[in-house]
Amino acid sequence: MAKKLISLTVNGGKVQREVESRVLLIHFLREDLRLTGAHIGCETTHCGACTVDMNGKSVKSCTVLAVQADGAQIRTIEGMAQADGSLHPLQEGFRTEHGLQCGFCTPGMIVRSYRLLQENPNPSEEEIRMGIAGNLCRCTGYQNIVKAIRYAAERMQVKEAAE
Ligand code: FES
Ligand code: FES
Repeated sequence: MAKKLISLTVNGGKVQREVESRVLLIHFLREDLRLTGAHIGCETTHCGACTVDMNGKSVKSCTVLAVQADGAQIRTIEGMAQADGSLHPLQEGFRTEHGLQCGFCTPGMIVRSYRLLQENPNPSEEEIRMGIAGNLCRCTGYQNIVKAIRYAAERMQVKEAAE
């Protein structure tokens, strides 16, 4: 099958690759770029395990073709830590508040929560639950996930106030 050259920015780095037009973004990220943080759960847009941030929106990368990401800015869980290697407040929150058990849903949850907090820096519990409605967790239950996102929201506000 003919390949198409795509150029995109992933976690701040420029990437250029030839891909077949049928390749899904999640497979491109995991297999071509070896960014295996985003997971494949359902492959049918239901579970959110494959969530990445694309051009300022959360997308389920199992339902986007790699060629559709040509020219895009993408952030995956691998790009969430700070430049000095310290954890993002969301990562800290999930750790501190026990927001994970097996961890399968966690990369997608964190990347989705990142966009949620960009859009609404101080969400209520209800807004958080609505905001992560497209991401399923089969083990933790959502109580601690909500607490983890609240933890991050508070930390990020304190940090902003101090800057
Ligand atoms: S693997 Fe993409 S939504 Fe489940
Ligand atoms: S922590 Fe296991 S699926 Fe969410």
